[in-house]
Amino acid sequence: MAKILVVDDEHSILETLQMFLYEKGLTVFTADTGERGLLIFEAEQPQIVILDIRLPDMNGLDVLKSMMEKQLPSKIIMITAFQDMETTIIAMKRGAFDYIHKPLDIDQVEQSVDRAVRILRIDRDTPALKPIIVKPGSAFQIIGKSEKMRDIFKMMGLVCTSRVNVLIQGETGTGKELTARVIHMNAGFKDDPFVVFDCSAVVDTLLESELFGHEKGAFTGADQTTTGKIELAGNGTLFLDEIAQLPLKIQGKLLGFLQRREYTRVGGTKILKSNCRVVAASNCDLAGQVNKGLFKEDLFYRLKVFTIQMPPLIDRLSDIPLLVEHFLNKINLELGTKVTKIQDGVVERLLTHTWKGNVRELENTIVQALVGCRGNVLLRDDIDRILTRNPSLPALGLEAFSLAHVEKDHIQKTLSRLDWNKSQAAKILGVTLPTLRSKIKKYELRQN
Ligand SMILES: Nc1ncnc2c1ncn2[C@@H]1O[C@H](COP(=O)(O)OP(=O)(O)O)[C@@H](O)[C@H]1O
Ligand SMILES: [Mg+2]
Repeated sequence: MAKILVVDDEHSILETLQMFLYEKGLTVFTADTGERGLLIFEAEQPQIVILDIRLPDMNGLDVLKSMMEKQLPSKIIMITAFQDMETTIIAMKRGAFDYIHKPLDIDQVEQSVDRAVRILRIDRDTPALKPIIVKPGSAFQIIGKSEKMRDIFKMMGLVCTSRVNVLIQGETGTGKELTARVIHMNAGFKDDPFVVFDCSAVVDTLLESELFGHEKGAFTGADQTTTGKIELAGNGTLFLDEIAQLPLKIQGKLLGFLQRREYTRVGGTKILKSNCRVVAASNCDLAGQVNKGLFKEDLFYRLKVFTIQMPPLIDRLSDIPLLVEHFLNKINLELGTKVTKIQDGVVERLLTHTWKGNVRELENTIVQALVGCRGNVLLRDDIDRILTRNPSLPALGLEAFSLAHVEKDHIQKTLSRLDWNKSQAAKILGVTLPTLRSKIKKYELRQN
């Protein structure tokens, strides 16, 4: 039986909540001061706490802090008459599970308590993932065991030790830059620089000087000689990202460099040499750009000596479980979150998304989910909420086409748009309030 502690100095609230929660089958403790609340918290270790912010002896936010410091799995729901931004932010930052405004809407309390109970149960029933030992330098690890990724690994192995030009093509977020880095890390010259030049990020007029450098006085404002990226790359790798965006004029100069391995700085005459390895990436089909006259054919052939085509994530869904574990570990390390469990159904939900943004979108989804996570388990609900917010058509997963799914989705959207005003929503949806309430319960909908 779950234990719940209610801390509030308003006795009418204590009584109402006590009765209500008792009827829900919870063991209820109450306290009307912060100090008493803390004593009961330590003695009883309740799974759930409902905590008022304005208490006679202490600030509820400080009580929250002391409770969180005990590092128990308890979920703490704050209630307050304050509507301001600061208090809400502080409470959530200090680890509050939820934040409910007074006057209390008992439905909202129930939803929040039910959700806490559910999460505690999922946490209890979900086994922790095996901890993964993070190897040094593994920030640049390419995860995948699908046939398609194994082919990519083979190609990387073939090409990494030589200095031939490599062209990596693929949609955005498929791991082109990561692949380029890993090729570099496995090259005989891995201690030399890896220099990124994003051909789409610099204004045209500066591109040439960024890439090749310029001499003092080459143009207005050029008050000193500057080294370009080619020079910075030295004997290492020059990664030319979004190569299709390179203006034709500079494509010509780059071609000259690739043919002769010599170039001059802007405004200079001195011939400079470079032995850097060039890896270029493009998210559009370069051959198509050549046909349209937007990309120099000679340069295209120079670059594509060795081509790697990164598969979109939708073509290698079998990699998703591994990627999810990898990102959980990575993000836990980076953000200090402690999510070590994945609820059943999370992976299945991820498999129904189309992933237009590929691995980057998957990584961002997990980051967002972990930031919103109030426990150790990555919840299906959290993923669902994020993917519904950034919808792309369901690709697989017939469940997504079921009437129940559509109904659930529609009710959720309607409620969100109306700030969860249920009577308004019921009118718009053309159902009675009790019907709406029962559907909210059935689909376990809640206000985000
Ligand atoms: N196979 C993979 N394994 C692990 N992380 C990946 C993989 N593919 C991409 N990523 C991660 O996804 C994000 C986007 O990758 P990136 O190389 O920048 O893609 P692109 O250059 O194709 O847009 C990066 O954070 C990268 O580390
Ligand atoms: Mg990129």
